[in-house]
Amino acid sequence: SLSPVEKAKRLASHRAVDEHFPENAKVVGIGSGSTVVYAVERILQRKDLKDIIFIPTGFQSKELIVNGGLRLGEISGYPVLDVAFDGADEVDSALNCIKGGGACLFQEKLVASCAKKFILVADYRKNSSILGKEWTQGVPIEVVPLAHASVLRILSNMGALDPQLRMGGKAKAGPIITDNGNFIIDAHFGQIPVELVRQLAAEIKAIIGVVEVGLFVDMADAAYFGNDDGSVSVRG
Ligand code: A5P
Repeated sequence: SLSPVEKAKRLASHRAVDEHFPENAKVVGIGSGSTVVYAVERILQRKDLKDIIFIPTGFQSKELIVNGGLRLGEISGYPVLDVAFDGADEVDSALNCIKGGGACLFQEKLVASCAKKFILVADYRKNSSILGKEWTQGVPIEVVPLAHASVLRILSNMGALDPQLRMGGKAKAGPIITDNGNFIIDAHFGQIPVELVRQLAAEIKAIIGVVEVGLFVDMADAAYFGNDDGSVSVRG
């Protein structure tokens, strides 16, 4: 049976799909991570999925779509989505969020930006008031490999606390490589007040070599958080 956290992820994902999967959906985005797996589980319980095209946000969600027997499409061919469901690492009171714990932030942001509705699914650990408060993994930043040292230097000068290239650990000697062939830097900025998230995201994005930053500002339309008492908190 599922742990309390897994139950919370499942509950939130099922509710989100029930409330936001459009009757006449044509193109639907699928995010990355462990929570969105339950969103796909719920989608697969629906009828008439055969004409709907599903857009992945990386290798893992492509597998989810294919293994579920759903129709796979590419964002370059379908740049308008009815809705996209995705997880998050931390969500603030204004629905800004940190993403990229799974290194999929670039495709996630691309797909989210093309979606008419962007719906977050998460467990109670991700439900925060201020980014950097509860779940302090830092802000993931995708960088072109050649630029990693200069980006690290500039981030430090900007006040990032000990920014680090994300390493593969036991799974790989050296840095992890994203689905787009890039590196990830994790940079801590302490708590990021709601009204400063947009500016910080813009400053990081402007650094030469940064492909995308895992701060999603004002993109989500709603966030569903599963709680450990079996309820779901909805924001948005
Ligand atoms: C992937 O890069 C991330 O943005 C994920 O969407 C995020 O880490 C959520 O993952 P979980 O659902 O496993 O918490």
